[in-house]
Amino acid sequence: MRQKIVAGNWKMNKDFEDAESLLDEIYNAQVNYNGEVLLIVCPPALYLELASDYANDEDTDFAPFGVGAQNVSQFVKGAYTGEISAQMLASIGVTHCIVGHSERRKYFGETDKIIAEKINLLLSYSIQPIYCCGEVLEEREAENHFEVVAKQIKDALFNFTPEEFNNIIIAYEPVWAIGTGKTATPAQAQEMHDFIRKLILDKYGNEVANDTSILYGGSCNAANAKELFSMPDVDGGLIGGASLITEDFLKIRDSF
Ligand code: PGA
Repeated sequence: MRQKIVAGNWKMNKDFEDAESLLDEIYNAQVNYNGEVLLIVCPPALYLELASDYANDEDTDFAPFGVGAQNVSQFVKGAYTGEISAQMLASIGVTHCIVGHSERRKYFGETDKIIAEKINLLLSYSIQPIYCCGEVLEEREAENHFEVVAKQIKDALFNFTPEEFNNIIIAYEPVWAIGTGKTATPAQAQEMHDFIRKLILDKYGNEVANDTSILYGGSCNAANAKELFSMPDVDGGLIGGASLITEDFLKIRDSF
């Protein structure tokens, strides 16, 4: 059965000291956690090694949380100033990586073609991509949201083999809900998650479709997570703002 996942996307927040405190709090909560939810922490790249040290602490014989990057280069290595490669991420124990976030599409010109290249490199280093898709407000208002999301999924993901696809996590994030305090209703989330799962079913068959975790993202918080996670095709959340406060983040973890 598919994994329930709550991933925290810190975005470009926290200085070193605050990042260390947040990781410390999450670590302390997670070492005593024996529930079924996989928690993933996605701090800025600068703090990934620290997060990985916590996750691989010798005092525990299990990783208390997954460590996710927020981005990766589409290039293998070499003269790409400022970039971080999949190999570098793997070499410090990064387990997951967000790709195709709407902020990267909007501000950094990321296309589904570039995203597919990133996913390909991540998979070759056994890092699980968390692929974000979702429509902007105008597209929903024009009732084009299914078409938009279907194109994003097909263009970025459907050239992978079933074995490769098995390692991809999907996050449906309606752009109009990100950081706006405006959440998709549980029914809207369920409708789109069900639609995405059917696309996967048509392409890869029942087993792969059933095993793919599809997360919801966009103003998901401690107050609304329970209702969203009660939907049959919502397997967890990709959490921005509310992942910066330990108490809220853990409440979301416990919302299934
Ligand atoms: P938000 O961000 O929870 O702050 O809306 C979600 C995301 O962008 O992943």
